[in-house]
Amino acid sequence: MRYRRFVNVLSVTSECFPLVKTGGLADVTGALPLALQALGVDCRVLLPAYPGVGEQLVASRATTTISDLFGGAATLVEGTTTTGLTVILVAAPHLFERAGGGPYVGPDGHDWPDNHLRFAALSWVAAAIATGRLPVGADGSWRPDVVHLHDWQAALTAAYLNFDHTAGAPPTLLTIHNLAFQGLFPQGLLSSLRLPAAALAVGGIGHWESLSFLKAGGRWCDAVSTVSPTYAREILTTEHGMGFDGVLNERRGGLLGIVNGIDLETWNPATDSHIAARYAVSNVAAGKAANKAALRAEVGLQPDSAAPLFCVISRLTEQKGLDLLLATLPRLLAAGAQLLVLGTGDGKLEDGFRRAATDHPGRVAAVIGYDEDLSHRVQAGADAIIVPSRFEPCGLTQLCGLRYGTLPLVAKVGGLADTVVDSTTRSLRAKTATGFQFTPVDAEHLAVALGRACDLFASPARWQRVIRTAMTTDVGWSTPAAEYLALYERLLSR
Ligand code: ADP
Ligand code: GLC
Repeated sequence: MRYRRFVNVLSVTSECFPLVKTGGLADVTGALPLALQALGVDCRVLLPAYPGVGEQLVASRATTTISDLFGGAATLVEGTTTTGLTVILVAAPHLFERAGGGPYVGPDGHDWPDNHLRFAALSWVAAAIATGRLPVGADGSWRPDVVHLHDWQAALTAAYLNFDHTAGAPPTLLTIHNLAFQGLFPQGLLSSLRLPAAALAVGGIGHWESLSFLKAGGRWCDAVSTVSPTYAREILTTEHGMGFDGVLNERRGGLLGIVNGIDLETWNPATDSHIAARYAVSNVAAGKAANKAALRAEVGLQPDSAAPLFCVISRLTEQKGLDLLLATLPRLLAAGAQLLVLGTGDGKLEDGFRRAATDHPGRVAAVIGYDEDLSHRVQAGADAIIVPSRFEPCGLTQLCGLRYGTLPLVAKVGGLADTVVDSTTRSLRAKTATGFQFTPVDAEHLAVALGRACDLFASPARWQRVIRTAMTTDVGWSTPAAEYLALYERLLSR
């Protein structure tokens, strides 16, 4: 057997399940380290101590203090989550301990005005741990072999390491979860970030009249990955590169796409404590029927055994293409289907779904808000989950849908293209179909796919066959975690 050394990884992120979550990034940064642990990797998560986060840690202790972290004192707090993650919190009250709002936005819904300082501070701490200037670990001697940066909030770490000439900094990996967020700020803020003017020179982090945190990762990380092979190809093009394709195309070593998994313990219909009736593949028909009845009662949809229940669990933003669903709603209802939307975000979309629920009582329900527990009951009770995204780096709700036998109906883009097998005559015959895809991403093609799903639902035996394939698809983290480990090892052997 090949000798495999133990690898220490510092995973730097702005959110992490179960401590703080606004979307899929938290799911990934909460689950991937656990899957890496199972492969012998000592992965520790560096995260800001937002309000309420420290209280959730088991056996936490303050370790290192920092006298001036971008305008105030800070402490590193180390501990463990109830799920078994080792976490290092950046406790900096002047940056992260604020009433109301969330990790990125204040109570008024606008970005915190000092986001550049807040995430520069996270990144600066990551770089200082990487070079050993800030001691962490039980005896202060833990050092990462690889630093894994997630999205723009962590990407400035690569700039600090680039301009800090301390020898022996470990290799870095940037994972791009969503290129729509590049951490753009006015160039005049550069000096407040504790970076030299050279950071804005050609080949630096200047981005037109702005500076870009993400670009620091694109320029100076030893490797860059994203969360699906199709998205990795898409963002190298001018059409989908969001102004970042130049940076990515300039990189030697390319851009790797590793599809996300989901945590198979958190998302397991056989043990899920949030749902009305637990089920596995062997009793899925009865299990889903019981969950569907309970869900309909909970959200005010009519009992109707002939009606497929479609659901959406999503941020309501332009990316997610849910305006297309509103446009196809009359056709969906005419086909006899029902719709349940759980989501929050853009006011116009929220109003659109609220109005649809008012106009079609018992047939359309809209729960406007963020509700983790309800999201499990929706996955368990719905027949199909609609993800009509204009672009989707990976997407996780379709993976949960597969696991819960809730057939994904998705736009054929990004990770959605990579994780769902469209139901065609051939794939149905070969028993490889797991859901429905449509392309191009417009209301017409969405409507056609919804029609195909309704037709298949009307043949219960065929629908059940697709459910069985969906539920036995591997959507866990073990394969992707092994790919990340192989990537870390490549970085270490350079
Ligand atoms: P993104 O990160 O772009 O929002 P993903 O599909 O990767 O999309 O991840 C979204 C995550 O957030 C999933 O775990 C999904 O269940 C969850 N989620 C999204 N909206 C809601 C909501 N309104 N209530 C509960 N969970 C939600
Ligand atoms: C981003 C993407 C989503 C992806 C998630 C986790 O939020 O929008 O597609 O699944 O990150 O990687």
